[in-house]
Amino acid sequence: MFFDDHRKHGLRHNPFKALVAPRPIAWVSSVSADGVANLAPFSYFNACADRPPTVMFAPNNPRPNGDGKDTLRNIEQTNEFVVNLAGYDLREPMNLTSAHVDPSIDEFKLAGLTPAPSVHVKAPRVEEAPVSLECRFLTRLRLPSDHPAIENNVVIGQVVGTHIAEHIIRDGMIDMAAYRPVARLGYMDYTSVETVFEMLRPD
Ligand SMILES: Cc1cc2nc3c(=O)[nH]c(=O)nc-3n(C[C@H](O)[C@H](O)[C@H](O)COP(=O)(O)O)c2cc1C
Repeated sequence: MFFDDHRKHGLRHNPFKALVAPRPIAWVSSVSADGVANLAPFSYFNACADRPPTVMFAPNNPRPNGDGKDTLRNIEQTNEFVVNLAGYDLREPMNLTSAHVDPSIDEFKLAGLTPAPSVHVKAPRVEEAPVSLECRFLTRLRLPSDHPAIENNVVIGQVVGTHIAEHIIRDGMIDMAAYRPVARLGYMDYTSVETVFEMLRPD
């Protein structure tokens, strides 16, 4: 099959997110200018450079109430955030933190998670997370939108501090079986890394 208008795919659901899959999940912690911590997952996420390590994610704000996502507002106010990465064990609390709650609500408390101090940024990291990347906000790109109620953005940040839980390090390498990062598929589906294979580059 082929379609060029994404609204006319003829399938039961728009397949786009099932096609670009799996997508890693940035579990982004931030803090507002007045000190309220915030935590939310974003699966439009990836690394985009490693010298220096740089990440991007997309808080795509629905605009009906005009004020968009707390994560984006906090990052623009404070210029900092943390990308935590969840292993399979943290899938439920990660999902809980996607609830659309008032900005005064601290999602760490909501999901029973522990905010741990970061080294270089004010935003707390998730103590339970196997990996946390402290980030300095570099830029926000505004992407086209084809719906008046949707605003599309990409936030790019430079990693200035990396926390790795000791239990996922083995022989100086990341043990993917211990890490087991969760990732998003399409629809309501998720996966976690369970199979690893090696392939050498031709040159
Ligand atoms: C696994 C998962 C992935 C998500 N990915 C995104 C995403 O990439 N972009 C987005 O705008 N919202 C995404 N969401 C929804 C946000 O997490 C949700 O809107 C959240 O309430 C935003 O929180 P905030 O207002 O505190 O920033 C995702 C939700 C889940 C459960």
